[in-house]
Amino acid sequence: MILLTGGLGYLGSHMAAQIIEQGHEVVLVDNLSNSKIAVLDRLSQLTGRDISFVKIDVRDKAAMQEVFSQYPITQVVHFAGSKSVNESIQQPLDYYDNNVNSLISLLHVMKEAQVKTIVFSSTAAIYGEPESLPIPESARQAPITPYGRSKQICEQILQDFSNAEQGWKIAVLRYFNPAGAHSSGIIGEVPNGIPNNLVPYIAQVARDERPFLQVFGNDYNTIDGTGVRDFIHVQDLIDGHTKALAWLSTQPQAFEVLNLGRGEGVSVKQMLDAFSKAVGHELPYKVVARRDGDSASVYADASRANCLLGWQATRTVDEMAIDTWRFYEKLA
Ligand SMILES: NC(=O)c1ccc[n+]([C@@H]2O[C@H](COP(=O)([O-])OP(=O)(O)OC[C@H]3O[C@@H](n4cnc5c(N)ncnc54)[C@H](O)[C@@H]3O)[C@@H](O)[C@H]2O)c1
Repeated sequence: MILLTGGLGYLGSHMAAQIIEQGHEVVLVDNLSNSKIAVLDRLSQLTGRDISFVKIDVRDKAAMQEVFSQYPITQVVHFAGSKSVNESIQQPLDYYDNNVNSLISLLHVMKEAQVKTIVFSSTAAIYGEPESLPIPESARQAPITPYGRSKQICEQILQDFSNAEQGWKIAVLRYFNPAGAHSSGIIGEVPNGIPNNLVPYIAQVARDERPFLQVFGNDYNTIDGTGVRDFIHVQDLIDGHTKALAWLSTQPQAFEVLNLGRGEGVSVKQMLDAFSKAVGHELPYKVVARRDGDSASVYADASRANCLLGWQATRTVDEMAIDTWRFYEKLA
């Protein structure tokens, strides 16, 4: 059985849908700090199954021990965490507390329960301003926000833990820019408040919830002057997780760090155009000043995940836009 922490969030819910479809047993835990219980109903609707869910905070050790004694868990994917780059600048202690302490607590409980496989959600934010492109896993790490630094600390903890313990199988996955939604349109990303990420923001413009997209700078040295990022379809990203779990299960012991991206840059304007096409009309935007700390271009060298796992992202930017819109169009 696979435990997904943060299982009702954006990525956790897509992973739940995929692994249930593949016939795995799953239990989800989530404290609902950035998700809604309605996602559980949607997952049941999508999979036709009752899904085991426990509402707890991963930092609550006693509650997590109870989960491990109640369910026959063999593998864990640790999605739970706080992910807003901007919020982390305002609330650094909350970010370090949630991201670092939830991992430490989880590892203690897993160790006690003798469950030794974990996939950890890390981020391209760990790299900061890239020295060269595409970015390999070995690139310099220079995160510029408490969020990125909290994930860097988590990676270090996992590395130290792996060095000290026998038989642990650990994959650290550094995500670039997850976007898109399940092709059913039943689950997707529902941000609380103002979205931090481009795609949900564009979706809100398409729903007339926001008047226009703010494009932060159009004078970068990129294809059309707007910032370039490595958007990756959420289903491709989740494929990377299931392949990582399968690979780990064949290893006696492992510690691997892998980039998950398409390995291709797409500009903000190109994403906006893909979305306009999906919606069927031009979406409004205004160019405003660059934001501090934004890089011109960020995209992955994802060849290591390809070599090790036989994984490669295949879905296009158009598919990300179409799938996102299918979800948002129906959203109440
Ligand atoms: N989505 C992205 O753009 C992105 C990019 C890079 C890395 N990540 C990382 O991937 C992970 C999942 O991201 P997401 O987009 O699904 O985020 P999300 O906010 O949608 O999902 C995270 C879930 O974890 C829950 N949660 C948070 N803290 C918890 C705690 N202490 N105990 C129990 N539940 C808790 C939240 O309620 C939420 O449902 C995060 O760790 C995030 O930092 C995300």
